Amino acid sequence: MSAVPVITIDGPGGAGKGTVSLWLARTLRWHYLDSGALYRLLALAAARDGIDLDDGAALAQAVAHLKIEFRLHADTLQVLLDGADVTAAIREEACARAASRLAVHAGVRAALLPLQRAFARPPGLVAEGRDMGTVVFPDAALKIFLTASVEQRARRRWLQLSAAGVDASLDAILDDLQRRDAQDASRAAAPLRPADDAVVIDSSELTVEQVCARIMGHVEERGLTVGDHPAP
Ligand code: C5P
Repeated sequence: MSAVPVITIDGPGGAGKGTVSLWLARTLRWHYLDSGALYRLLALAAARDGIDLDDGAALAQAVAHLKIEFRLHADTLQVLLDGADVTAAIREEACARAASRLAVHAGVRAALLPLQRAFARPPGLVAEGRDMGTVVFPDAALKIFLTASVEQRARRRWLQLSAAGVDASLDAILDDLQRRDAQDASRAAAPLRPADDAVVIDSSELTVEQVCARIMGHVEERGLTVGDHPAP
């Protein structure tokens, strides 16, 4: 196990990783990495700078110039790119689609590796994404793979958007999730799959509270403790 304890939470889009990971980081007072936000930021920077999403070499080079800042608030992550607040922009479906496309390039994934590993600082890190337990933090103290049926994930996202006043179609969300699932699971570089030593939790029939309670059970079982990092 690495010196700094890491808990990884991987899984497909819409499984509730964000909510659960933020809650866990806050509860443990550990640092937090939303790796998907890095891929989304790169997608945004690529659109801004006119970089082709199929040009893996140019995208990998662009990683070195990313000026990003994550600010953790009570239950949200504020994201800045070159000083501009892009918290809402990176959550758009078009950005997710572009992120999923550029995430297929092995060079892009390699360029993002050191950036992601730098988040592991004392007292600990909660890292969420697709390959946190398989590739980025293979020595993590606890690996969770959080999943749910695609219908349930689409429904949850639709409810989230509706609550935020966004007029979205459930069918379109379902289509998007299915397309991204297929792309993430079938790519050659770091495909989405649970690590061999991951605890798989299917949240289809569970509330957020129930998922958090299950994860906390595993955290306690492994003797992982609350840190002294100031609560976000
Ligand atoms: O998790 P999120 O939906 O923000 O991720 C956006 C996209 O970034 C995913 O569909 C996936 O293709 C890519 N991604 C990845 N590896 C990660 C995190 C995200 O390939 N660790």
